[in-house]
Amino acid sequence: MLRALLLLLGGLAPALPAGPHWAYEGPHGQQHWPEGHPACGGRAQSPIDIQTRWVQPDPSLPPIRPVGYRRPGTPAFTLANNGHTAVLALPPSLRLQGLPRSFAAAQLHFHWGRPGRAGGAEHLLDGHRAPAEPGGHGLGGGGSLLCPQMHVVHYDAERYANASEAQHHAGGLAVLGVLLEVGADPHPAYNNILNHLGSIRYAGQTTAIPSFSVQDLLPPRLDLYYRYNGSLTTPPCFQGVLWTLFQQPVRISLAQLEQLQGALYATEAAEPEPQRLVDNFRVPQELNQRPVLSSFPRGPKGYSTGEVVAIVFGAIFGCLGLFLVVHFVAKRMRARRVQEQDVVFKASSRRAPDDDGPRP
Ligand SMILES: *[C@@H]1O[C@H](CO)[C@@H](O)[C@H](O)[C@H]1NC(C)=O
Ligand SMILES: *[C@@H]1O[C@H](CO)[C@@H](O)[C@H](O)[C@H]1NC(C)=O
Repeated sequence: MLRALLLLLGGLAPALPAGPHWAYEGPHGQQHWPEGHPACGGRAQSPIDIQTRWVQPDPSLPPIRPVGYRRPGTPAFTLANNGHTAVLALPPSLRLQGLPRSFAAAQLHFHWGRPGRAGGAEHLLDGHRAPAEPGGHGLGGGGSLLCPQMHVVHYDAERYANASEAQHHAGGLAVLGVLLEVGADPHPAYNNILNHLGSIRYAGQTTAIPSFSVQDLLPPRLDLYYRYNGSLTTPPCFQGVLWTLFQQPVRISLAQLEQLQGALYATEAAEPEPQRLVDNFRVPQELNQRPVLSSFPRGPKGYSTGEVVAIVFGAIFGCLGLFLVVHFVAKRMRARRVQEQDVVFKASSRRAPDDDGPRP
């Protein structure tokens, strides 16, 4: 039943729990994923921790342009609990431009932590969280540590019939990553989804919800993003996913976050021991020399590789120069002191010929 529903949703991890059972913790937890899903042990996995100072700015990266996102052209969307996350199926009439090819939307889903604890994001920026923006209302000292993430999955509609076919091919999928932060105000667009979580409390449940502008879930600046090649963040972890992580976070309220964290179960309704659906995020994976690009110039904090080389050499030559200056000054001072002592010695030796006096 669950499998049939998920095929209906355009089947795709994480909407399609094909193959061996997996979880985030325990005997089937993330460190064991490669045993049943070999791609999860690959060298180009997602998510990653983006070190913003090593990012390469690429001014040729164009803004992301969603087409048909505001008016999806269908009266209803299907929202489902697949036991790993809440998935909203999206019609392929939603397109993305600004990528190497034309991509069509398949679904969006969420990753989150657990109530009262930090964590939940998959992609990280400089070790933890979305950057705190000046004047932001994030809790916990600027940007929030309670940061869920939304992923909008698309497939290459020029080359493939659907996402399940596209996911097997390099460049077949493109995912938009949106960092969610806790701010002072609720975000009205997210209520279009959150208000219906009560209808999909248990794994395998599905509900039809009124369609809405999916664009309103995205941050305002679609021209500011990080780009790299990675993978699905859940088994089967297929690689060749073109990732776009928006730099701007989107703020939801604490009550909205708690709705996301507290509404769902990872188990089916009939299960005698219900398990809460929390902490459904994968830890950052090794970068393994993959380039990470940014569509925007570096901020004042970061440096390019060229600048780092210049700074290192500058520091070395600077130190060498300083050493030489100190060395010669010290040498001159020593020479002068010797000279002075010599004068004193000569003067005193003139006065007292058999006085030992100081020796140089
Ligand atoms: C996806 O497309 C392939 C190839 O056309 C087809 O065999 C498959 O049934 C499709 N899958 C879904 C879930 O629609
Ligand atoms: C991602 O991979 C494609 C093809 O393998 C390549 O052309 C592209 O430059 C890569 N992009 C990044 C950001 O590394």
